[in-house]
Amino acid sequence: MKKFTIKLLPGDGIGVDVIHEAVRALNALAEKHGGLAFDFQKLEWSCQYYLRTGRMMPEDGLKILRDCDSILLGAVGFPGVPDHVSLRELLLPIRVGFDQYVNLRPVKLLPGLSSPIKNEQIDFVVIRENSEGEYCGKGEIQKENTPDETVIQNSVFTRRGTERIIRYAFEYAAAHGRSKVMSATKSNALNYSMVFWDKVFHEVAAQYPAMEAAQMHIDALSGYFIMHPDRLQVVVASNLFGDILTDLGSAMLGSIGISPSANLNPEGKFPSMFEPIHGSAPDIAGKGIANPVGTLWAAAMMLDHLKLNAEADCLMNAIVSVLSAGKIRTPDIGGTSTTSEVTDAVIAAIE
Ligand code: NAI
Ligand code: MG
Repeated sequence: MKKFTIKLLPGDGIGVDVIHEAVRALNALAEKHGGLAFDFQKLEWSCQYYLRTGRMMPEDGLKILRDCDSILLGAVGFPGVPDHVSLRELLLPIRVGFDQYVNLRPVKLLPGLSSPIKNEQIDFVVIRENSEGEYCGKGEIQKENTPDETVIQNSVFTRRGTERIIRYAFEYAAAHGRSKVMSATKSNALNYSMVFWDKVFHEVAAQYPAMEAAQMHIDALSGYFIMHPDRLQVVVASNLFGDILTDLGSAMLGSIGISPSANLNPEGKFPSMFEPIHGSAPDIAGKGIANPVGTLWAAAMMLDHLKLNAEADCLMNAIVSVLSAGKIRTPDIGGTSTTSEVTDAVIAAIE
């Protein structure tokens, strides 16, 4: 019997619903396949927890989390707690503390889905730097609440951090039969950080002569996503750029509720964390209509990470068969089904 300990962080809003669904699907998969079991350990860290305790997670939160095979996260943030508090005191400390420096986000139009854009050849990945950059949290406020008030938000790009994410992108491309890596830059305006990013990109690219390396400014690249998604294979981007590009990427798949995300510590020194790319969606929370596909897909990425490749394929095939049948889907992608009806259909399709 293969047994895996999975720490669950449902978080807030629809995060709670979609994690519940992921657990149901993973348990059903384990039951159908046999020889596999999950020990799910739920942690109630959330905005509600914050309102009760004044913290998003306990002081020794990372120590509590660490002892597991993987982490599954729903979404964090809810009205009543400022978004920068919920994000910076729970999600970002995990990504940084566990050195999950790769945020891998597939942008792939699954069979059965249609894109709002004309060019439906969409099958690439965005590899987002996940540990520093624009989200380093450094800055200052000067002369607060005076007419001369000035705020400074810094970015931190280290050679180690920049080089490892760009190298990961080239290695990923090589390992997955891809021949092109596109770097998202903005070195015309960001004369320190992105000039440095470009320099490192060229250095690393030179070590992969068989790989086609290109770069585009982030504004032009956003347009390129819409016009020529078929020309993209692997996109490497800084923390902020990758964040924005992947919401765009998910919208290209028809909904932000579709896309998964893997926060990876490639060395395996710390657990990796899997989540949908969407947030807690307060506008639909409690309505039972959140699309669970992003989270189920993230669960499949987790299975792959745990080297349960056959099980991962099986879960993906079940998701695709439900989407392809076209009958059972949530309202964000044009259906009338509930969150749990979609999961029920996926579970029924697991072979
Ligand atoms: P959001 O992703 O929660 O919602 C944006 C829009 O997409 C909303 O209209 C929502 O209803 C819809 N949507 C999102 N997920 C969906 C799903 N699975 N099915 C159907 N529709 C879906 O982004 P927003 O509104 O900017 O943020 C809401 C809260 O979530 C904030 O507190 C924010 O800080 C937090 N957030 C947390 C993230 C995380 O934990 N990784 C990521 C993004 C936002
Ligand atoms: Mg985001």
